[in-house]
Amino acid sequence: MKKQINITPSTASKIGTVDFDNLTFGSTFTDHMFVCDFRDGHWDIPKIVPFGTMELSPASSVLHYGQAVFEGMKAFKDDHGSIWLFRPNENASRLNKSAERLAIPAFPEDIFLEGLKSLITLDKEWVKSGDGKSLYVRPFVFASEACVQASASREYRFMVICAPVKSYYGGDVRVKIADHYSRAAQGGTGYAKAAGNYGGQFYPTQLAKDEGYQQIIWTDAASHEYIEEAGTMNLFFRIGDTLITAPTSDSILDGVTRKSILAIAQQMGIHTEVRMLKVSELIEAKKSGELLEIFGCGTAVVVQPIIGFGYKGNNYDTPLLENSYAQKLKDALVNIQCNKSKDPFGWRFKVCD
Ligand code: COI
Repeated sequence: MKKQINITPSTASKIGTVDFDNLTFGSTFTDHMFVCDFRDGHWDIPKIVPFGTMELSPASSVLHYGQAVFEGMKAFKDDHGSIWLFRPNENASRLNKSAERLAIPAFPEDIFLEGLKSLITLDKEWVKSGDGKSLYVRPFVFASEACVQASASREYRFMVICAPVKSYYGGDVRVKIADHYSRAAQGGTGYAKAAGNYGGQFYPTQLAKDEGYQQIIWTDAASHEYIEEAGTMNLFFRIGDTLITAPTSDSILDGVTRKSILAIAQQMGIHTEVRMLKVSELIEAKKSGELLEIFGCGTAVVVQPIIGFGYKGNNYDTPLLENSYAQKLKDALVNIQCNKSKDPFGWRFKVCD
């Protein structure tokens, strides 16, 4: 049964003003947004309205205590004009895992999926095909109650906004391995897509950028000896012919792209290991010539080769390989996402024709 969603279409599309070949990631938005409020203990009837600013009390709880979680997904247009989401049920359930950790009420997963379908269908002209183009879909929930008591809000707003995008990073990516700052600790919120996990990275990342790196490889907060993730990406290391990634934990995001890459690699017959990797082991592998590739992966970045890393003042290069695992895995993933190959795992979700 179709869920009720009240739709107010926009009267004038902005699409004619957009240069789809020159987009800064996440800064141009489509014509509509999905909105659903939680109050008096339940979610109201959702609506889709023209994209625009909204009124918010300066006392809104999110502005004071950061009670907010989000998701990142992409919609793709295939060569026949049909539009697909990639594993949206994974995002629906992860949103609610994140929400639980932040004491935010769960959002019904069937309305999440129905809302995405209606919103993306309404804005389907914004989904372009080819050349790495896609529609980045950003669901999020924040505490909207006007109250500065330091306790869980009694009111929330769930929203979805969409941005046409191309690539996330403009050029080469070098990373700094953290030896002082931490992203997440045991028992903390690191596994959740909590807004604060990202805000807390901006200052150390800015310092790393000043040193010529684009991102930080976060290490465990207790010892800084074990590699975790990179904040906007999960990480893979190719040592010899083995592809290694850290197990998900309290402090590592359970990335949808990460688990998809693992499944594709295993299907291709690549030997994979899901285990903690010590920084010292990485540096030993680099020195012995066994470290062949490092790449990050995530919805926004897809698969991003990392061409070098810095650690405690030393720099190590990991130049791009021909026939890299990164490229093979990216091609296989993107072909599934864009309906250019079979979908042996059943990951594609049809939005509309
Ligand atoms: C994503 O890959 O969707 C993310 O959430 C990373 C992001 C903060 C841009």
